[in-house]
Amino acid sequence: MKKVLVFAGSNSKKSINQILAIHASQLLDSVDVKIISLTDFEAPIYGIDLEMNEGFPKSMIDLYNLFQETDGFIIGVPEHNGSMPAVMKNTLDWVSRQGGKIFQEKPVVFLGTSPGRRGGISAMNHVLDIMPHRGAIIIGHYNLPNFNDHYTGSGLSKEVTMELSQLMNNFQSIILEQ
Ligand SMILES: Cc1cc2nc3c(=O)[nH]c(=O)nc-3n(C[C@H](O)[C@H](O)[C@H](O)COP(=O)(O)O)c2cc1C
Repeated sequence: MKKVLVFAGSNSKKSINQILAIHASQLLDSVDVKIISLTDFEAPIYGIDLEMNEGFPKSMIDLYNLFQETDGFIIGVPEHNGSMPAVMKNTLDWVSRQGGKIFQEKPVVFLGTSPGRRGGISAMNHVLDIMPHRGAIIIGHYNLPNFNDHYTGSGLSKEVTMELSQLMNNFQSIILEQ
């Protein structure tokens, strides 16, 4: 069975972007979904001296291997000060040092949300700009503004679920065709 790796670029145990990514992944019915949290893949701030002296943290080797094994990605993109959070960039830096095209030309969907009215679109625009250079074949992206107006505590609103369904159906079809 084809595999999809799901996570958000957040180290919050209550990450709303993780919630969004998980709910989107639950709309897939014909692939094996693996959900991980970056809270289980901690790493020190990347530095060339650290890499040269101590090598890669085991957590980052494990994550790189998960990237190799999967057939596609659903990634939640939080926004901190108009860009991706430090933990997401740090993870990208560590993983990319093990092989620059970390997404290996595989299908990727990026989802973003925030409690604010722009829904994290600045971080998303940055990610959409840079991730193709890391080998991401971007199938689609989606930003949900005002997260708390669309999430009940157990599920997303019907209208958001319908929008995500279209994106997920397309994503799954592309993965199954490969
Ligand atoms: C340091 C910091 C900066 C933030 N900057 C933004 C921002 O630029 N735009 C925005 O919409 N939300 C911003 N927020 C609010 C985040 O969208 C909110 O904390 C969200 O829950 C983060 O996503 P996560 O829960 O998936 O980690 C910021 C939050 C923090 C802690």
